[in-house]
Amino acid sequence: MPRTLPTRYAVSLKIDASRYEILDQRALPSAEHWRDVRSVAAMLDAIRTLTVRGAPLLGVSASLCLAYRAQAGDTPAQLREAAGVLRAARPTAVNLHAALDAMVGALDAQGPEGLIDAAFRWFDDDVAMSEALAEHGAALLDDGDGVITHCNTGALATVGVGTALGVIARAHAQGKRLHVWVDETRPLLQGARLTTWELRRLGIPHTLITDSMAALVLREGLAAKAMVGADRVSRNGDAANKVGTYGLAVQCHFHGARFYVVAPSTTYDGRCASGRDIEIEARDPDEVRGFVSPSTALRWAPAEVAVMNPAFDVTPARLIDALVFEQGVFAPGAVAAGLGGVLPPAR
Ligand code: MRU
Repeated sequence: MPRTLPTRYAVSLKIDASRYEILDQRALPSAEHWRDVRSVAAMLDAIRTLTVRGAPLLGVSASLCLAYRAQAGDTPAQLREAAGVLRAARPTAVNLHAALDAMVGALDAQGPEGLIDAAFRWFDDDVAMSEALAEHGAALLDDGDGVITHCNTGALATVGVGTALGVIARAHAQGKRLHVWVDETRPLLQGARLTTWELRRLGIPHTLITDSMAALVLREGLAAKAMVGADRVSRNGDAANKVGTYGLAVQCHFHGARFYVVAPSTTYDGRCASGRDIEIEARDPDEVRGFVSPSTALRWAPAEVAVMNPAFDVTPARLIDALVFEQGVFAPGAVAAGLGGVLPPAR
């Protein structure tokens, strides 16, 4: 039987030899509930329901579930099957796929012990990448800036300080006075529920707006920079992120505001030549017909109305001023050139 697991804590998860729990992001901000995800079925349900979410966190949390199962004595065949099931749970966040491929690679090469090491390394690397993103990205923000953001890209979406929100938090910690304009992020309200929760804990001044108010905020000059995350970046520098990001980029372009994408290299997918190759997750129409959470179920549209509900959209590279990776700040053209080989090769 493999050795006992090390201990790791993050805002969004805690794991040790006898426990693996994630913070239920559907219940925030009204309640902080922790959910047991020691079984593959529990982790699968958590991923599908967005109990756990955010591209980097998906990769880390699914890998740790496999590590837990390896410690519990699951066979290599069971672990391989579990990796396949979890990999298929969400199609756009490539971090999930990259992490699970790495776990299976470690399992094949070194057995369950190797998988456990790889999962905890994936955790530690995510913390380190978040730190580097924050450091590089903070240089893009100036004292007095208004910054608009979409979805949730903070500590809740990674196991470190976050991506775009981590950058904002670092600039704030450096003493820069910022004001953050938070898109509520329809339909699942990650901005309204999660980003405001994080900004409040961080003590960063912020104002919540509906997504449809963003153009007004930009026109009035209340925000001259946008900072967002990504679920997948293609070879030409196109970036898939939470639906509404593309619209925000178009509005930034029109109003002359800077548009920045912040993501670890685990979000880069060298197999996708452009954003057109990125599979976009289609979600349950009821998410648009109303709002459902563990404590609320409210439908405001007719039950039978036709709905389109893509979870993500793609922002073309030409609308992006710069992409922040853990290696530094790059123009989309530099991403297209492979950043001199620092991005992972196509798998
Ligand atoms: O559907 P979600 O909530 O998992 O979508 C998350 C996002 O779109 C984030 O912006 C992205 O994963 C980057 S998080 C660091």
